[in-house]
Amino acid sequence: MGGDPLARRRLLQFLAASPLLGGEAFGQEVQRLPDPMVWGARNLDKLIGSPREALDVFDFEPLAHKTLPPAHFGYMASGVDDDATLRANREGFQKFQLRPRRLVDVGTLDTRMELFGETWGSPIVVAPTGSNRAFHDEGELAVSRAAKAGNHLTMLSTVATTSIEDAIAARGRPVWFQLYPTDKWDVAEGLARRAEKAGAGAIVVTVDVLARQNFETLYRLWRTDTRDCSSCHGRDLKSFVQRKPNFDGLDVSGLTSTGHTTLTWSFIRRLRDTVKTRLLVKGLMTAEDARLAVEVGLDGIVVSNHGGRAEDSGRSTIDALPEILEAVGGRLPVLVDSGFRRGTDIVKALAMGARAVCVGRPYLWGLAAFGQPGVERVLGLLHGELRAVMMQVGAPSLKDLVPAMVRRA
Ligand SMILES: Cc1cc2nc3c(=O)[nH]c(=O)nc-3n(C[C@H](O)[C@H](O)[C@H](O)COP(=O)(O)O)c2cc1C
Repeated sequence: MGGDPLARRRLLQFLAASPLLGGEAFGQEVQRLPDPMVWGARNLDKLIGSPREALDVFDFEPLAHKTLPPAHFGYMASGVDDDATLRANREGFQKFQLRPRRLVDVGTLDTRMELFGETWGSPIVVAPTGSNRAFHDEGELAVSRAAKAGNHLTMLSTVATTSIEDAIAARGRPVWFQLYPTDKWDVAEGLARRAEKAGAGAIVVTVDVLARQNFETLYRLWRTDTRDCSSCHGRDLKSFVQRKPNFDGLDVSGLTSTGHTTLTWSFIRRLRDTVKTRLLVKGLMTAEDARLAVEVGLDGIVVSNHGGRAEDSGRSTIDALPEILEAVGGRLPVLVDSGFRRGTDIVKALAMGARAVCVGRPYLWGLAAFGQPGVERVLGLLHGELRAVMMQVGAPSLKDLVPAMVRRA
């Protein structure tokens, strides 16, 4: 160690952090200052009373927890197995730092996002989530209206509790339709054709849910729920999909899954030949698959692990994004989701080269807590943080967010 004071300080810090030595090293008490957040910690006993009170999107989650029946909150919150992927999605952002540029005129900010010749007010996209009426009576209608207020692109789930026609009417602009392929081609085709006819701007096929998801948090919370769930949910897949308006008029007999264990690229090719509108896949996590998506002639990719609800690989989407962007080489727009909660998270992905970032649970927290105004506030908070971070890194528009602004820590 010699006389180098920096080396001495590092050693003391290391020893102070050691669980063996506690806070004492060489007989000398090492003072550890508390993290500033200790003084202003989030108080779970005092929840926000209105959307405006929220300081960030996380302020809505405890209110959603308090408002919803345990099984419904569990459905929203759950990851799978050990929640390794769920946690990785958040922790992944810490592996990347922003490189802020100074002295750039950011007096006027342009956050408009262009995709397939259409312009949206923000690169923040509403991800498709099923059964929104489990969180609020107005469900997807409230979400669509909130998205309209901020001019966000939205994707509607196959298993939404609102039809694609009603969602488009509430949004006032074409909504994208997320397609669960199911294990029956006729049903997949019927869903896609109906969405096209309704004027959906794109079909987004989700390919990461093949079999049953082990939603342990859901199952544990479900056991604490005293209500009779079968009166709303029915007991089998047929009664489940029959309550989802997008399946109206389709023959769902023989359907055993909304996923598809024999799903391969040949199904995607067949769908490509069937669908006239834009076709994207959601759920890719590797460069190899991204290259295949380009070869098959898809229009775009959503890098996603379903918010940690599909598999427990432990791989975050922000980790997967760079290799996928490199493989695609600008030939297709790449969107990304899973774990995005802050303006900095969004800016990191956009600077890497993603075209847009989708969010799931945060708007559901807002929906459960306050309905449409809650969703509006969640989207507004994220958009406000995005604007602030764009200024901080010196990017007056989305195209000024460039790879040099982000690096692996
Ligand atoms: C309650 C819930 C329901 C979801 N339902 C669907 C769905 O029906 N189709 C789909 O492709 N993704 C679905 N997802 C995944 C989202 O589209 C998105 O990938 C994920 O929520 C993003 O992660 P985040 O929640 O951490 O933002 C769902 C997610 C949640 C939380």
